[in-house]
Amino acid sequence: MTTKPIIPESTHSAERAGGHWILARLGKKVLRPGGRETTQFLLENLSLTGATVVEFAPGLGVTARDILGKGPARYIGVDSDADACANVRAILPAGPHEVRNTNATDTGLESDSFDVVIGEAMLTMQTDKHKLELMREAARILKPGGLYGIHELSLVPDNVSTAVKEDIAKALARSIKVNARPITVPEWAALAREAGFDVINIRQADMALLSLKRNLKDEGLKGVFTIVRNVISQPDLRKRVLGMRKTFTEHKDHLGAVGIILQKRAQ
Ligand SMILES: C[S@@+](CC[C@H](N)C(=O)[O-])C[C@H]1O[C@@H](n2cnc3c(N)ncnc32)[C@H](O)[C@@H]1O
Repeated sequence: MTTKPIIPESTHSAERAGGHWILARLGKKVLRPGGRETTQFLLENLSLTGATVVEFAPGLGVTARDILGKGPARYIGVDSDADACANVRAILPAGPHEVRNTNATDTGLESDSFDVVIGEAMLTMQTDKHKLELMREAARILKPGGLYGIHELSLVPDNVSTAVKEDIAKALARSIKVNARPITVPEWAALAREAGFDVINIRQADMALLSLKRNLKDEGLKGVFTIVRNVISQPDLRKRVLGMRKTFTEHKDHLGAVGIILQKRAQ
């Protein structure tokens, strides 16, 4: 299962593409703010073996591989990007598994029928209204008592001012080219409750997507070497990644990462 990700330059150009695609083109595989350790927290707390699992926004399929490695009864990936879907389809083993190229607000899946939904680094990049819509779709397709694991950017501290919030949203839109609107951990929890979930477990981590230490952990020495070589040899991508790094550094005191395990309330 070592299929190379398909990241076409035409649809993910250096100037306009969302930051996650820039990082993917540079060879970065772990595109989540809390790194592999936060993903691990989700995987350990979601009881995936033998479960029916839906992944929102599998992207490059890194977590999809981990989920499939746990032996779910059924895996369904849902991503709005056709290239992402092609990547994940390429790693599906034989069985009742599939990938749907659609917005996760409207999966077309049956209500009350899945054990687990997992989604990483995809809610933050939506407006608060869309965040809620996506969480409600997760609640709709889960069985009562089913688990939903999210892994997202957070704002710290919990009482961060509206001015700082707006400032960060603007800076992220400029550098990542995605209208990312991170919220505080209590705000994530409130949104989840509104969508029909109870909060079961929370793990907070540093937002260290571009730190050397985190990348050595997440990508390994060989992976970091590949990324650095690509950064040096591709000036258009370098410009974008340095812009992102500057934004993350400027706002480091207010950016965090969070993994949350949610459980669908029985009606
Ligand atoms: C930052 S990547 C995260 C990918 C993966 N979850 C990971 O952690 O590596 C964002 C992915 O979310 C997908 N995405 C964003 N919004 C979506 C939505 N509303 N429905 C389905 N996929 C979405 C994008 O197409 C992209 O593949």
